[in-house]
Amino acid sequence: MKTLSAEKIYQRPGSRSGLPAWTYNNAELTSLEIEQVFLRNWLFVGHVAELPKSGDYQCFSMGDERAVVVRDGEGEIRAFYNVCRHRASRVVAEESGHCGKSFICPFHGWSYNLDGSLRNIPRADTFPDLDRSQYGLKPLDCEVWHGLIFIRFGGDGPSVAQMLAPAEEEVGLYRIEDMQSLARSYDYRFDLDWKAVVDVDNEGYHVPIGHPELFDLLGNSYVDERLEGGLGRSYGSFKDRKFKFERNREYVDALPADSYLPESHRHIWIYWGMFPTFVLTLFPDQVEIYQFFPSGPQQSVMQGKCYALPDERPQMQRARELNQAINTGVGNEDIQLIEWVAEGMRSSAFDGLMLSDIELGVASFHNALRDALPVLELAQAPEAGTLKQENERLLAKGKVAAAS
Ligand code: FES
Ligand SMILES: [Fe+2]
Repeated sequence: MKTLSAEKIYQRPGSRSGLPAWTYNNAELTSLEIEQVFLRNWLFVGHVAELPKSGDYQCFSMGDERAVVVRDGEGEIRAFYNVCRHRASRVVAEESGHCGKSFICPFHGWSYNLDGSLRNIPRADTFPDLDRSQYGLKPLDCEVWHGLIFIRFGGDGPSVAQMLAPAEEEVGLYRIEDMQSLARSYDYRFDLDWKAVVDVDNEGYHVPIGHPELFDLLGNSYVDERLEGGLGRSYGSFKDRKFKFERNREYVDALPADSYLPESHRHIWIYWGMFPTFVLTLFPDQVEIYQFFPSGPQQSVMQGKCYALPDERPQMQRARELNQAINTGVGNEDIQLIEWVAEGMRSSAFDGLMLSDIELGVASFHNALRDALPVLELAQAPEAGTLKQENERLLAKGKVAAAS
């Protein structure tokens, strides 16, 4: 696994100071980020266990785009735009559920098979020229990786399996495809630019001070690694450690000794990240997946879900509970830090960041964003109404420079 050094990441001019201050508060930029980053990369939707039967579906939206993911009659997971081909209503109204053998649009009742093809039209005789074969739901890229469902609204980059190839062997140990949902899920909302929220999560420099209990658990074993291709791997071990926090001691003692994992993975927490904001956390007792999204200018969301293998042993149940309590505590600490950052970023005193060699996650994430959106290199915001155009101009200029 090839990791990127601080030297390499900070080679890029300006990368020590993070993205310029204006990029954390610009509504035009948020729209462009949704269009160019979130609608052109893989987004995690859920686990196959959440759609056990044919006709089970789950919706997902990003910016102005609406998707529905469904298990079809053959058991395959498929994704479509949740936009009726008649007059553009949502075809599926609920966030998730079971639709039987077809989706029936709530407006005029056009129905679609689970493979997206048009099934039935009320008063079909009143559409004399309609070629039904051309009016199925529009498909979306959809990929299942270790039981995890990803969709993509656009873009033509590598598949999830290609992007996450360096994680393949390690993730395979956990049998995520056989897991079930646990009760814990969350949906935190912040009045802050999404990048500022991600920045807080993207480094372990803050762990000793910001997360005393987590630091007690993992200590100085915690390491952040950045890999090529927008990947990150962070990990920390609690093997043979002495704990100050009772909850850590109890958690480690509760973990059953007979684990299906190899010895190397029984005492370690591992966080795999994929651009833009997908994080898969591998614990010995469960996995937790979270993502960050912009939901508008100065509005962001962090969504998370937990999954685990069926295991009714009281000891394992207890370990899972304690893990979730520890991580809820970490989440609450991050929420507080995020709020303080939000206040600071609104102040006229805020003029950018200063990053250390151990905040590589923040710097490499900013570099990946700069690659996608060269307008982020500008020290000042472009004139109102010109940001998108300016970004296109810089992209074209970059292509010319690269070709010459
Ligand atoms: S908009 Fe869906 S049936 Fe008319
Ligand atoms: Fe944190």
